Amino acid sequence: MDSPTTKVRSWNEWDPLEHVIVGRADGTMLQAPEPAVQPDWPEYGFPAGVFGPLPEEIQEVASERLEAFADLLIGRGIRVDRPALMEFDQPSSTPDWRQETMFGCASPRDVLLTVGEEILEATMSFRSRWYEYLCYRPLLERYYREDSAFRWEAAPKPRLTGGSYKPDFFREWHSLTPDEQWRRTEESDWIVTEKEPLFDAADVVRFGRDLFVQRSMVTNRAGVDWLRRHFPRHRVHEVSYRELLPWHIDATLVPLRPGFVLVNPERPAIQEAHDQLFRRNGWEMVKAPRPARTEAMPFCTCSLWLSMNCVSLDPKTVCVEASETPLMDLLDSHGFEVLPVPMFEVSPFGGGLHCVTADVFRHGELEDYFAVQIPGF
Ligand code: ARG
Repeated sequence: MDSPTTKVRSWNEWDPLEHVIVGRADGTMLQAPEPAVQPDWPEYGFPAGVFGPLPEEIQEVASERLEAFADLLIGRGIRVDRPALMEFDQPSSTPDWRQETMFGCASPRDVLLTVGEEILEATMSFRSRWYEYLCYRPLLERYYREDSAFRWEAAPKPRLTGGSYKPDFFREWHSLTPDEQWRRTEESDWIVTEKEPLFDAADVVRFGRDLFVQRSMVTNRAGVDWLRRHFPRHRVHEVSYRELLPWHIDATLVPLRPGFVLVNPERPAIQEAHDQLFRRNGWEMVKAPRPARTEAMPFCTCSLWLSMNCVSLDPKTVCVEASETPLMDLLDSHGFEVLPVPMFEVSPFGGGLHCVTADVFRHGELEDYFAVQIPGF
């Protein structure tokens, strides 16, 4: 049988994309409550404690969107792989806990971090996502067989006992005044404790030798430190932004080519060195326009800033959510070729265009885009 030979390699978010994984929406659950997530959608028939598959109509549209996006990529000569579905309505357990449902596999970006010739399975920090890596194992096994240089890695699976979460975090959070909430934000004082390293792959953004890693509801300081020790050839910058309850960095800091990064105008960086690092190295920090959408989809836990969750096909070409005309116009004026792709309906399944993809191969080498470093950052 004629099988394409795999090569795993991707150092940044913009080099020419040749091989990618695109997620699947089928069977995604509004997951059973767990310490880190407590879904509560009474207006759509899912009050706190009620869980089950997301309604079929919205699953169908989301699957069509993902299928069409995969076809668009294939049409441009990009190899596309899809994860293997599991029965996400099944309970899962470890010796430490039992969780009534899993979640889904629409967002490979959350689970898989590609850095050069390595794909690293993230720890994850929701119990409902603990086994999500299994959806990617058939692909990873195959890459491992076909590419003798592929470095297949997995971060230590976390225990996720009660000790990994601050007790009663959400109740306490909602009792805080806005000032107190912003103070906690300055300190990145989120739900996860420092008991064990925790991170989702989508809290990492790759700029060649420099990796930015966001502290968030799913990524703790020990997780950032684990990544720093794991990638000794890289400079790992721990970052945080003025955003309440942050998770995943790809609607906040989105590089599209060397020297050009989209930033979220509502989420300034907390560390002063963040902007200094970009400026001193001649990067243009371009503020994303306000999202064109004004209303989120039911069951969507992301903000409307998914508008800036775009994915590059190469340093000149970027896929943007089709309804986001202001962003498309802006990128057009900066010389990008913009491909409008309808993806909004996938937001209840975990994200936008960047989230639903994970790089396998981008054509390019490891480069240093930040020759001038800021001490201590
Ligand atoms: N938390 C981000 C926001 O609401 C959305 C990021 C989703 N990213 C992802 N990889 N699932 O703005």
